[in-house]
Amino acid sequence: MNVGIDSISLCVPESYYSLADLAEKHGIDPNKYLYGIGQEKMAVPSPDEDIVTLAAGAAKPIVTDEVRDSISTVILATESGVDQSKSAGLFVHGLLGLKPNCRVVEFKQACYGATAALQMATDMVRQRPEQKILIIASDIARYEQDSQGECTQGAGALAMVVSANPRILNLHRARGMHSFDVMDFWRPNNHKAAQVDGQLSIEVYLESMRQAWNEYKADGGHELAELPWLCFHQPFTKMAKKAFTALTESEPEQGQALTGESYEHSLLYGRQIGNTYTASLYIGLLSLLENNPQDLTDQNIGLFSYGSGSVGEFFSASVVPGYREHLRTEEHQQMLADRQALSHEKYSAWFYQSLADHKNQVMPKLSNRPYRLEKVEEFRRVYGVNDARANEIKQAS
Ligand code: HMG
Repeated sequence: MNVGIDSISLCVPESYYSLADLAEKHGIDPNKYLYGIGQEKMAVPSPDEDIVTLAAGAAKPIVTDEVRDSISTVILATESGVDQSKSAGLFVHGLLGLKPNCRVVEFKQACYGATAALQMATDMVRQRPEQKILIIASDIARYEQDSQGECTQGAGALAMVVSANPRILNLHRARGMHSFDVMDFWRPNNHKAAQVDGQLSIEVYLESMRQAWNEYKADGGHELAELPWLCFHQPFTKMAKKAFTALTESEPEQGQALTGESYEHSLLYGRQIGNTYTASLYIGLLSLLENNPQDLTDQNIGLFSYGSGSVGEFFSASVVPGYREHLRTEEHQQMLADRQALSHEKYSAWFYQSLADHKNQVMPKLSNRPYRLEKVEEFRRVYGVNDARANEIKQAS
């Protein structure tokens, strides 16, 4: 039985900050960010957007009336959770009107969380093929202002329904994992922004990938020459290029046959959005599927997921005939094209705003995405529906 991704959908904030503007602010050559890091824009959430509104916005178009009642489990993967106890997925469960007979949990292991969710969901569906599992990866990547990491921020959410006989991607059984305890990137409980040892994080990412690749092959995975398309976790798009070079160098004979074409379409969305932690690999996958002009039917894709701290996993999938009919390419490209640029002052005010000290706060009405954070009341978050947009999406789906 084939199991994998049946539908996939993206939601990003309506605003972005240009990395050319950030370079000017930092007084450095913009080419460092545009080419050295490989990023053009970072998505910036407004004060009434958070990982819940982004997650619900991503999931809404694929939770159609047809699939709603077959969703047995919601797994929301994030490392920018809004509560230490309650799963953010429960807010989404309520906003989307999912059935009560459903389990809802939150997964955390840095950027790797959504891959754990996807692999566990796949195994669960193999056991009970009648069920569908909703996975949402939603994150806001935030570093200290004026730090080296500031140029690698971003925000966004990616939702996928995992099912038997999927319409987009069949996941293969072979998997290679590699975990070890390292402090390359972390965020203490009382910090809004991540702490990072940037150069160490790049080294351990690459080492994790080499080890996970060897484990994948040992688990019966494909040879590199049988994976014409590749997607890597992309905290910034240059990192995917480094990963491609390291992987092909580790297999000198087979690696020679692969060119930059095998991963370059996977970078197009990430270059415009920035790091989205758990969602980043899957936004890369979506970018490959939606932007590659070639017909990818029946072709294999190799994927590498990395979460600092650290866990890496190499796995693979193949593209299902007719996949293009089930993508939302036009909608996603329009969503990215319609965003507004922010001034440095506004980016800074929005990105570094903190709700932590606000027991009660009414949020200004800024977002036009399907859902928004309306207010915080006695530390309780209250979400609302932007009716016009929600109805528009419902009609289109
Ligand atoms: P940095 O030290 O300021 O940058 O920060 P750099 O000096 O290494 O330069 C970056 C690149 O720009 C270099 O290219 C330079 O040569 C080039 P490379 O040698 O790497 O190919 N450059 C230029 N290019 C063109 N024109 C110029 C120019 N000047 C320089 N004028 C760093 C970079 C990524 C370390 C920093 O931004 C950072 O700390 N970011 C956050 C950490 C990160 O993203 N790590 C990635 C691996 S870990 C991971 O992916 C997990 C993560 O997603 C978290 C999670 O799992 O939850 C982060």
